[in-house]
Amino acid sequence: MKKKQEELLENEDLEVRLVVRAIYEKYGYDFSDYSHAHIKRRIFNRFSQSGLKSIAEMIHEVLYNPKFADQVLMDLSITVTEMYRDPSFYKAIRDEVIPVLRTFPYIKIWHAGCSSGEEVYSMAIILKEERLYDRTQIYATDFNPVIIKQAKDALYPVDRVKEFAANYQKSGGKRALSDYYSIHDRSVKMLESLKKNIVFATHNLVTDSVFAEVNLVICRNVLIYFNRRLQDRVIRLFIDTLPAGGILCLGSKESIQFSEHHGHFDTLTGKEKIYIKKYS
Ligand SMILES: C[S@@+](CC[C@H](N)C(=O)[O-])C[C@H]1O[C@@H](n2cnc3c(N)ncnc32)[C@H](O)[C@@H]1O
Repeated sequence: MKKKQEELLENEDLEVRLVVRAIYEKYGYDFSDYSHAHIKRRIFNRFSQSGLKSIAEMIHEVLYNPKFADQVLMDLSITVTEMYRDPSFYKAIRDEVIPVLRTFPYIKIWHAGCSSGEEVYSMAIILKEERLYDRTQIYATDFNPVIIKQAKDALYPVDRVKEFAANYQKSGGKRALSDYYSIHDRSVKMLESLKKNIVFATHNLVTDSVFAEVNLVICRNVLIYFNRRLQDRVIRLFIDTLPAGGILCLGSKESIQFSEHHGHFDTLTGKEKIYIKKYS
């Protein structure tokens, strides 16, 4: 009985690897170093919702039905986000990071894995309020082209705004969040002036390389989906992107502590996972 159960699990793992391989060979998105448990859960969820009879049929759909493939890419992306997610993190940005950024004549920020842009506009508002926006260039990237288009459009459902506004106030917001958007039917649209210095682009942390030197990298709630090897690769990319004294921000459940590259960073605030690249 135990043997049968083991064989079933082994076969399921093999099926997951076959789907991942098909996505890579056909579309170039490489999920092979993502957390296996996460990828397996997502693939089997899609499989059971799809009404397909076997994983072989699912692979066929991935290869021949672009709409289905987009859906699977969306499933594997996990794009959940919000404005001022973890307000205490944004409070630390105001209190600890802004004073460092203020010392630079020109500021470059990279939001890697920015999803639909809520964290990018959160940061843009802080920069405006701290009078740093005009000397800042922001790069906002994600590997998913559909989600990057949403980030550029800057349209968010009106029923999420109450939560966003509460987060903004908790994070030390200086005005009302409503000063930064206009209302369109059931959506709010962030002001165009917030977008002026933001470049939105697709960038894949697995396969693409450094594209600019920046003073601050914000990559939150992305590494959590990667295995240790891929986390190390991406942290290496950030080391190459940041000059000495540059700042790296990770998500609340992520840490540099277990990376083979942790020696390159000092901790600016441990609780908020904000690190500063060492000079040596
Ligand atoms: C959970 S969201 C986090 C969004 C935002 N950073 C936050 O903390 O709210 C994870 C994002 O990482 C993106 N992502 C996943 N793998 C990626 C990769 N290899 N390269 C770039 N972005 C990736 C996903 O598309 C998704 O938008």
